[in-house]
Amino acid sequence: MDNFISETDFERYRNLIYDESGIHFSSSNRTILESRLKERLRKQNISTVGEYYTILTRDRAEMKALLDAVTTNLTRFFRNTAHFQTFEYYILPDLIKWKQKKGDRSIKLWSAGCSTGEEPYSLAMAMKELLPPGFKIDITASDLSLKSLMTAKEGFYSDMKMNGVIDRYLNKYFEKKPGGYQVKEEIRNLIKFDYHNLKFESGLKNLDIVFCRNVIIYFDEAAQEAVINKFYDAMSNHAFLFIGHSESLFGMNTKFEFLKTDWACIYQKMLEK
Ligand SMILES: C[S@@+](CC[C@H](N)C(=O)[O-])C[C@H]1O[C@@H](n2cnc3c(N)ncnc32)[C@H](O)[C@@H]1O
Repeated sequence: MDNFISETDFERYRNLIYDESGIHFSSSNRTILESRLKERLRKQNISTVGEYYTILTRDRAEMKALLDAVTTNLTRFFRNTAHFQTFEYYILPDLIKWKQKKGDRSIKLWSAGCSTGEEPYSLAMAMKELLPPGFKIDITASDLSLKSLMTAKEGFYSDMKMNGVIDRYLNKYFEKKPGGYQVKEEIRNLIKFDYHNLKFESGLKNLDIVFCRNVIIYFDEAAQEAVINKFYDAMSNHAFLFIGHSESLFGMNTKFEFLKTDWACIYQKMLEK
């Protein structure tokens, strides 16, 4: 079968996408890039990839739309039970103790690459259940997919998407509506959804927990290392990092320490015990 784009155009597009986002298309993923490009060209009524490339170099909004189109946004509520067990049985008790010792009653979490919001909402519900009264929950959730962020902000999920949410949470934190469930205000209010490209500085500081799961898998090693080191700098001196269970910092030049809990392996920045 003929390729939709020439080798040279493939190189140009993959370099552009990489420079803009860290997302790396290997030759084996070429067909994915081609089909997403085709979709943008059809939507914008543009006939050649050359013409589209020229538009991308001048039109930031179209560049954002292309980046959105090349992302994979698969997610679900309480994805990876072992991570949530670690979060509930290890991380939160540890942080509560640490914070109480310091006289600080807030926990700051970042869900980086939050997609359509199931991850930060799951975390918000767990925190709401487990933090002592009076503790402030401060969650930032970000992504570079504007389409996904719109769903996340709306907080409405079809019945099909509710697998993984236990009945108690479903009854307590969601309102049943025709065709699905709406996340209640008391949970939505805990999260600030933001457009953010992980290529750039977030401006976040003193984070206690970072979740960046199933995101760096799309980056090459250099882009992975850059983003992981940015997390380190944005975290407090006693903080925890979750990456996807198929992702690893092995071989990477980072200051994070490996932490094996009874449920899952995660990473920590532990400059203060
Ligand atoms: C597969 S989803 C993971 C969602 C969630 N963290 C989870 O594990 O279920 C990956 C998300 O990373 C986002 N992403 C990819 N590259 C990004 C970048 N450079 N900056 C911010 N978000 C990015 C995508 O838009 C997508 O929504």
